[in-house]
Amino acid sequence: MRLFLIFSFFFSFQCSDENWFQTKCDQKCIFQLGSLDSNNLNLFPKNCSSICADLVIDEDSNLTEKELIPTFKNVKTIFGTIIISRTNLTSLKFLAGLVSLECDEIPSDSDYKSGFIDLLTFSRFQKNFCFNPNPKNGLKLYKDFEMTEIGMLKWTNTTCSVEVEMYKTFSNFNVPNLKNFNSSDPSEHKIYIQYDYFGIISQNYVCFSLEETSSFYGAENVVMSYQNQKYCDHSSSTVLGEQFCNVSENENIKNLEENCQRIFGILKIGPGDEKFVYKLKNVTWIYGQLIIENTNLTSINFLNNLGFVISFDNYWKRSSLQILQNKNLMEIKLPNLKKVLGECNPFVITGNNGNFANF
Ligand SMILES: *[C@@H]1O[C@H](CO)[C@@H](O)[C@H](O)[C@H]1NC(C)=O
Ligand SMILES: *[C@@H]1O[C@H](CO)[C@@H](O)[C@H](O)[C@H]1NC(C)=O
Ligand SMILES: *[C@@H]1O[C@H](CO)[C@@H](O)[C@H](O)[C@H]1NC(C)=O
Ligand SMILES: *[C@@H]1O[C@H](CO)[C@@H](O)[C@H](O)[C@H]1NC(C)=O
Ligand SMILES: *[C@@H]1O[C@H](CO)[C@@H](O)[C@H](O)[C@H]1NC(C)=O
Ligand SMILES: *[C@@H]1O[C@H](CO)[C@@H](O)[C@H](O)[C@H]1NC(C)=O
Ligand SMILES: *[C@@H]1O[C@H](CO)[C@@H](O)[C@H](O)[C@H]1NC(C)=O
Ligand SMILES: *[C@@H]1O[C@H](CO)[C@@H](O)[C@H](O)[C@H]1NC(C)=O
Repeated sequence: MRLFLIFSFFFSFQCSDENWFQTKCDQKCIFQLGSLDSNNLNLFPKNCSSICADLVIDEDSNLTEKELIPTFKNVKTIFGTIIISRTNLTSLKFLAGLVSLECDEIPSDSDYKSGFIDLLTFSRFQKNFCFNPNPKNGLKLYKDFEMTEIGMLKWTNTTCSVEVEMYKTFSNFNVPNLKNFNSSDPSEHKIYIQYDYFGIISQNYVCFSLEETSSFYGAENVVMSYQNQKYCDHSSSTVLGEQFCNVSENENIKNLEENCQRIFGILKIGPGDEKFVYKLKNVTWIYGQLIIENTNLTSINFLNNLGFVISFDNYWKRSSLQILQNKNLMEIKLPNLKKVLGECNPFVITGNNGNFANF
């Protein structure tokens, strides 16, 4: 049954894929060999800014970063997939110019909805070798033990999903501009950014920059892995043009600067802080937690711009948005709230004994 499925997949997509390449690229910019190695490197269409290829660079490629850099220096768009496996590459910086990675319009197969996907060793082309055409395979990194980051600094657009096996050296994605996610999957319209730790990691979690977090978690159609992870340090005073405030530990809203739009940390509003809540009027993102506890507020009507509360710390332990024991609370208005992440139950709203019904 399984085999049958695979074959039907293979046959139904082989042709359309090839046709898709023809519609996307100049004939001379289609690299049909797929696997790139030191013997066929000279056949790679180095002059094309858009190439069509299902690229594989692996342990048999016998290619160094030094050879890859000039090969890919003109590439801005890749239609197809990229698989980097069992290499000693430390990043994908050789794809420094890549702006867009575009995948074929192929519906997700329900077999592949979760977890990592086995590479099917078939093809569209010469080697009779084909990737699982599932769009989740847009960019796939596995068994690259030296990889520290993706590091494609210009990568902005994708219709593809990403899968990364992270080994102990892997510290961050470093794709600061990746923000336009338009799924090529016509059935689900989802992009999967899937990553998992392999081997030992003790607290050596991958970090996401505030910009990456904003782009990935802010996109409606992006599905991120649930992993222990942390925020990268942020040294600028803004995030995506909005005023950034780093709330130091145990700081409460009294000491919060004015004009904050994006807050990192655990922000507490406690008894006596009622008169400071106006400071949150323009806040759109909290990279952390918001705890409103034991106040005599009657209304939470000062978070009108809050869209996201995304906590990575204590991921499994604490809720990101806590509204607790506010005896006079009668209403909670969160008109722009889109996503709260942190624990299975991201909200805790309880013990508020005004006329407000707890939920
Ligand atoms: C690539 O461009 C260079 C310089 O523009 C030119 O000399 C070379 O012939 C081109 N190669 C191919 C394969 O088109
Ligand atoms: C990676 O490095 C190791 C150790 O230096 C070497 O044995 C191996 O051949 C390298 N692999 C590749 C694909 O270059
Ligand atoms: C690897 O590439 C080098 C040159 O880049 C070449 O001399 C060597 O023969 C290649 N090895 C294999 C196994 O293809
Ligand atoms: C990237 O996406 C944006 C917005 O969807 C679009 O305007 C732009 O042309 C795309 N760029 C490339 C190189 O595909
Ligand atoms: C998104 O993708 C669909 C089909 O794949 C395309 O028709 C549409 O123009 C794309 N939108 C953007 C903003 O690129
Ligand atoms: C916020 O400040 C703390 C203490 O200085 C620092 O450890 C942390 O990295 C900062 N957060 C960000 C996101 O930069
Ligand atoms: C909110 O933004 C407006 C417009 O930029 C500004 O005038 C106001 O002072 C800001 N208020 C706070 C509390 O940040
Ligand atoms: C709310 O609490 C503050 C400080 O604890 C107090 O000054 C104020 O009078 C209280 N307001 C109401 C309406 O109880």
